[in-house]
Amino acid sequence: MALRFSLLVLSPLLLLCCCHGIKAHKDGEDPTTIKTMQDFSGYPIQEPHFPNSLSLLSVDTLSLQKQIDELSTFSDTPAPSVTRILYSEKDVLARSFIKNLMGFAGLSVREDAVGNIFGRWDGYEPELAAVSTGSHIDAIPYSGKYDGVVGVLGAIEAINVLQRSGFKPKRSLEVIMFTSEEPTRFGISCLGSRLMAGSEALEKALKKTVDSKNISFLDAARSAGYAKGEEDLSSVFLKKGIYSAFVELHIEQGPILEEEGISIGIVTAIAAPASIKVDFEGNGGHAGAVLMPNRNDAGLAAAELALAVEKHVLDSESIDTVGTVGILELHPGAINSIPSKSHLEIDTRDIDEDRRNTVIEKIHHSALAIAQKRDVKLSEFKIVNQDPPALSHDSIIKAMEASSQELNLAHKLMISRAYHDSLFMARISPMGMIFIPCYKGYSHKPEEFSSNEDIANGVKVLALTLAKLSLY
Ligand SMILES: *[C@@H]1O[C@H](CO)[C@@H](O)[C@H](O)[C@H]1NC(C)=O
Ligand SMILES: [Zn+2]
Repeated sequence: MALRFSLLVLSPLLLLCCCHGIKAHKDGEDPTTIKTMQDFSGYPIQEPHFPNSLSLLSVDTLSLQKQIDELSTFSDTPAPSVTRILYSEKDVLARSFIKNLMGFAGLSVREDAVGNIFGRWDGYEPELAAVSTGSHIDAIPYSGKYDGVVGVLGAIEAINVLQRSGFKPKRSLEVIMFTSEEPTRFGISCLGSRLMAGSEALEKALKKTVDSKNISFLDAARSAGYAKGEEDLSSVFLKKGIYSAFVELHIEQGPILEEEGISIGIVTAIAAPASIKVDFEGNGGHAGAVLMPNRNDAGLAAAELALAVEKHVLDSESIDTVGTVGILELHPGAINSIPSKSHLEIDTRDIDEDRRNTVIEKIHHSALAIAQKRDVKLSEFKIVNQDPPALSHDSIIKAMEASSQELNLAHKLMISRAYHDSLFMARISPMGMIFIPCYKGYSHKPEEFSSNEDIANGVKVLALTLAKLSLY
């Protein structure tokens, strides 16, 4: 027991490897398979196969960069910007591009009713829960070509890397391209993964959701070839346990890795996002005629609430608590008119859900108190979403760390302050994320950039992590 424990501490994969050794004996498996297993388990049992097989993990960076460049041309705005909106003509073309690449990689392709795309490489024990990886390819207006894309094209390349190296997965490996991670068209972020993870509230809401042109979600989906004849989108739900692991490769979208010269970020937690909409209504009036004591200024109520948000966030005394008033609108919006209405949208996040919820409660209290003090009406205080944070699973963190180490890549543990499809995949599967550096942390703008080398490193770590998890 003591021995087993210490081995576990030294290398979590060793135990798996041993288990498989025993099992392989029993099943009388083909010895060449066993050799591959040892190669990828990260633990050389008899001979040092491992360095040899690691050198076989070669990324075709030229092709990968070409694919990234080509995908970026499916855009509604000119290069270098990328704009790819859900179910638009360009989005549909980009989807075909992805399905073709999955096909070239020998994956069997399936799509669900909202257009989440799955490409599967069957393992030699296909009845086991599969290991999945993926990200998104939709792009907000005038953004860049790496956000999400690196985790889809990079995942397909990771499969190619493993295939070229001669690896045979035990659990099946599946690449997922998620529908609409960005909220651009229908105001719902992570639409595909949220639905996949079984959100009944979203399933209901989608029946009534329209875009800014009053095109319904279902009509838009049908125009792109999805949701044919389906009103009920619960067919998209996946059962908890369908995947033994989910890993997402993504650009950091922050400056830390680049600044510190570190190749790989291993995400331990994704901060819990919440958003709130607030409306105040006052009496308005002429900016000259109504004297100060007689005003009920909805604009000042909003300004006061914005400062209260900052105060409550800072009072949490944790660097991980953040709050932003990104939208503040005044009506009627004339220089000589006292604002009669104001509208705020507040985003607040934390890796600690209770702490974040406390901030939300305090914001609500302040909104009520400000309304009373200024004699304006708090006509709406709506928590639009209040998602829990997600923690990466220990076994996946260990696999990502071991892979980085074996590949001699500097890595660090970090928190994802932006959220990703992984936040929702964590509801149905153990989850982990790999970050790579990006230029100055830029994202959601045309200057977004990751070097070939950084992308290749991410793909290698992803490939090795998938290999380990597939044998798990
Ligand atoms: C949006 O479309 C629906 C159904 O087609 C229609 O009843 C409604 O009046 C439209 N709303 C607007 C604002 O055009
Ligand atoms: Zn993204």
